[in-house]
Amino acid sequence: MASEVQADNAIRFYESRSYNYDDTWHVDFTKRFISLITVEPGHNVLDLACGTGLLTFLESEAVGPTGHVIGVDVTPGMLNIAAHKKRQAGNKYENVSFLQGDISHLDRIQGLEGKTFDVITVASALVLFPDPKAVIEHWAQYLKPGGILALDSTHPRNLVSGMVLERTARRLNLAVPYNREWSQSESTLKNVVESAGLEVEKVVTCENQAGYGKRFHDVDTWDDHFVENVIMKDVTRTFATNEIRKQAQGIFKEEWERLSVDGKVEEVDAVFLAIARKSADGSRYISTSANKDIVFTGGCRCGSVQYKCTAQPSELTFCHCRTCQQVSGSAFLPFIEVPTESLEFTSTMTLKKLVLSSKSDRSFCTGCGAPISMIFRSNPEETSLTMSSVDQDSFKGTMPKVKKHIYLEEKAPWMVLPEDGASRSQRVELLNTSDT
Ligand SMILES: C[S@@+](CC[C@H](N)C(=O)[O-])C[C@H]1O[C@@H](n2cnc3c(N)ncnc32)[C@H](O)[C@@H]1O
Repeated sequence: MASEVQADNAIRFYESRSYNYDDTWHVDFTKRFISLITVEPGHNVLDLACGTGLLTFLESEAVGPTGHVIGVDVTPGMLNIAAHKKRQAGNKYENVSFLQGDISHLDRIQGLEGKTFDVITVASALVLFPDPKAVIEHWAQYLKPGGILALDSTHPRNLVSGMVLERTARRLNLAVPYNREWSQSESTLKNVVESAGLEVEKVVTCENQAGYGKRFHDVDTWDDHFVENVIMKDVTRTFATNEIRKQAQGIFKEEWERLSVDGKVEEVDAVFLAIARKSADGSRYISTSANKDIVFTGGCRCGSVQYKCTAQPSELTFCHCRTCQQVSGSAFLPFIEVPTESLEFTSTMTLKKLVLSSKSDRSFCTGCGAPISMIFRSNPEETSLTMSSVDQDSFKGTMPKVKKHIYLEEKAPWMVLPEDGASRSQRVELLNTSDT
């Protein structure tokens, strides 16, 4: 989605919401937001996607008469309300100015030329942008050396029907007015901010953002959620024709059901908030701590399951057992083994345990069906990861080589083993067990 399209979509979406925007949970959330950051008297602050100025005015009080706050937003209706509130307050907010423009292109906004700021805030807006890393890199140019950027992104189960809608649109190759699939955990927000060149000081999870905490929807209510999101709220006309809506309905149902456990779909009212700093000499931050020890990362096809691993894995074992054939839909499953303690799942929204024997526990993604891992109950200190789930480009060091073919007694008859020099066993010497 080009940034102009994003901005047009935002205007369409927020223009009609501007009149009652201040009746929503955003009022309380902006108070929590400012309580988590340091805005001091005399600071120059830039509040991006400022909306009706909820956070901007709080910042104005914090910086006092010697500081200044600029709020920028693209939606005229939101800015009209902000300007109205400023007028109503007499000279209380003299240190605030509002500018209209697309914050993906701050260089095109008159009034920002040559300016840098002590603090930049972006509340409840990052997930509206198709490329979070690119916009953060752009915003960071407007920070003073040592300046702070504070911004939040959604918990994957926040407004869960919106998430399902996003998946539905992606499967139909349609543009969606937001991009939240990447925002899976505190770590994924930290990673995206650090990849944009800023050092993250902390990330916190703000629970109970809109006041309902957690709730569970009956899986059968999918149609109500489809109607509410797709029919009622589709101001950007993503699902423009009846034909597309019909297709979207089937996919929405499928994606909604995939998220259900025991007939319920969980919704979590939470966001992740990151506070990051530009280095004192203005140079780009290169992560040395968080990612230093990561040897490889991985995940599933749809991205809802993600992990990182800090240990060099074993060489590859190709398991030809019948279960591996059936769960992979192939002739065998290639695995690498790692110490379980070296593995951290950073996103588990759709990770589901799969028990197909008394000896081992497998896991897979309910979103896309990808097999992820297997742990033998007799050896929980070791986890086997499917090689297909490993991000090949993330590998530091040498890529594992094929070392063993196991369970050849169950090998698919049509499979011809390659001359790869790997050891071959009928059952499973390595794992010392008789079924997987
Ligand atoms: C959920 S509101 C958040 C408003 C405010 N930050 C708050 O916390 O109350 C999202 C805001 O992002 C603005 N927005 C979306 N895309 C934008 C863009 N490309 N440039 C400027 N503002 C944008 C919308 O107009 C809307 O006011």
